[in-house]
Amino acid sequence: MAQQKATNITWHQATVTAQEREQLLNQKGCVIWFTGLSGSGKSTLANAVAQLLHQRQHHTYVLDGDNVRHGLNKNLGFSPEDRAENIRRIGEVAKLFADAGTIAMTAFISPYRADREQARALLADNRFVEVFVECPLDVCEERDTKGLYKKARAGEIKEFTGISAPYEPPLKSEVTLNTAELSLEECAQAVIAFLEETDLVPAGR
Ligand SMILES: Nc1ncnc2c1ncn2[C@@H]1O[C@H](COP(=O)(O)OP(=O)(O)OP(=O)(O)O)[C@@H](O)[C@H]1O
Ligand SMILES: [Mg+2]
Repeated sequence: MAQQKATNITWHQATVTAQEREQLLNQKGCVIWFTGLSGSGKSTLANAVAQLLHQRQHHTYVLDGDNVRHGLNKNLGFSPEDRAENIRRIGEVAKLFADAGTIAMTAFISPYRADREQARALLADNRFVEVFVECPLDVCEERDTKGLYKKARAGEIKEFTGISAPYEPPLKSEVTLNTAELSLEECAQAVIAFLEETDLVPAGR
């Protein structure tokens, strides 16, 4: 847990409420948290869901792994501590997006259960949707979309999730999708169906 360093700070209440922003956007601000091994399909799936929602006039934003490490989290590496801080900051940013009324999607390996639970705890119960992008390690390694598994096997990358660093699968994700068995279209539709079922977006428009 990050330490609160600043004192003498007061929360200033916004004049336009979160509810008013949501009415304007006709959707509920929420965080869809994709988690899974490298190459499991988090980025591909998050972007496919964003595309479908955008076509339905919904406001979305995808926060993605490497992009965030180029900026906000450029001072963090891949040690357990830095991974935890990486996810803590992303959780806070995603929460701000959700508060703004946006359907925020995060596509990070986020291998530690405790870190994901910390991100979940920032949102109201039904506003955090954990999507376990399940895919066997051998299939991810076969895909090797970024050539990282090859490097990890050769010992060129230390602390690589699935090879030399752990991945803790979710115990109670809202949605679990096996991308080795389901098509991208099927996976994306399953996420949309969950958002509709839980009234985060209005049904099919
Ligand atoms: N059902 C599916 N859903 C998503 N991706 C799929 C699916 N089936 C096959 N794929 C393929 O799997 C690959 C997933 O790569 P992607 O970059 O999205 O993974 P990632 O989880 O974001 O990895 P990383 O953590 O390294 O960023 C892509 O080449 C994609 O086309
Ligand atoms: Mg990715």
